[in-house]
Amino acid sequence: MAADIKMFFCVGLAVGLTAKCHRTAQPHAVYCQDNKMIYCSLNYLMFAFQRTLQDQWSRMMVSTDQAQFMANLIRLINATKAIEVGMYTGYNALSMALAMPENGRVVACEIEDSYINISKPFFKEAGVENKIDIQHQTAMKTLNELIAAGEAGTYDFVFIDADKGNYDNYYEKSLELIRKGGVIAIDNVLWSGKVVNPAPDDQTSQSLDALNKKLHKDQRIDLSMLTVGDGLTLAIKR
Ligand SMILES: C[S@@+](CC[C@H](N)C(=O)[O-])C[C@H]1O[C@@H](n2cnc3c(N)ncnc32)[C@H](O)[C@@H]1O
Repeated sequence: MAADIKMFFCVGLAVGLTAKCHRTAQPHAVYCQDNKMIYCSLNYLMFAFQRTLQDQWSRMMVSTDQAQFMANLIRLINATKAIEVGMYTGYNALSMALAMPENGRVVACEIEDSYINISKPFFKEAGVENKIDIQHQTAMKTLNELIAAGEAGTYDFVFIDADKGNYDNYYEKSLELIRKGGVIAIDNVLWSGKVVNPAPDDQTSQSLDALNKKLHKDQRIDLSMLTVGDGLTLAIKR
């Protein structure tokens, strides 16, 4: 099926419908049991999404509306270089790679090999395995290596979504790596609302709260804090 069929993509409907659908040999179509056909140029995402739902930690996956929003942001800023700090099973990395042109690259940081193993077949089937550079080590090591390799100031988009205690460090490294006008997206900044009044023994909420307050005053960026999902901050480098 032609990849250039432009279709309206409704994630909620599509995810619901594909539960009753099966895969066909045709790469951009999903056929349902009732013989209605839904064309969707991003159907690989749905298969990755559904596979991830089988994992016991699937709640870690970014929400569909958030992934869709970030993919469009990537298109808007013509991003060709992105980093994901915390890839998990690759749903969002795939979404970002699909939103990029052929020369686009996503550096995907993940420490758990079981998650990486889940992601790889989806990247391959979607034809974007060459666009996604999986870094199987700590994200901090990868970010430091990129800086040491002279890549500071060359990235368009960074999505921070790994261990919360390191968020501030990831943010500082990302600021180095991102170009002027590039976007750093930070997930879970509301932490189910616990950042509003963090408990004395809740270090995660405290560190997220501290980062939120730091960014509020940070003159190096323009800030947007969205109530999408569990809270999504966009920091645009000045
Ligand atoms: C919330 S999940 C990421 C979800 C993913 N961004 C998505 O949208 O589907 C966080 C991931 O970060 C990984 N992670 C945790 N600490 C890490 C570290 N220090 N370096 C790299 N990855 C890490 C975890 O194994 C987990 O898969």
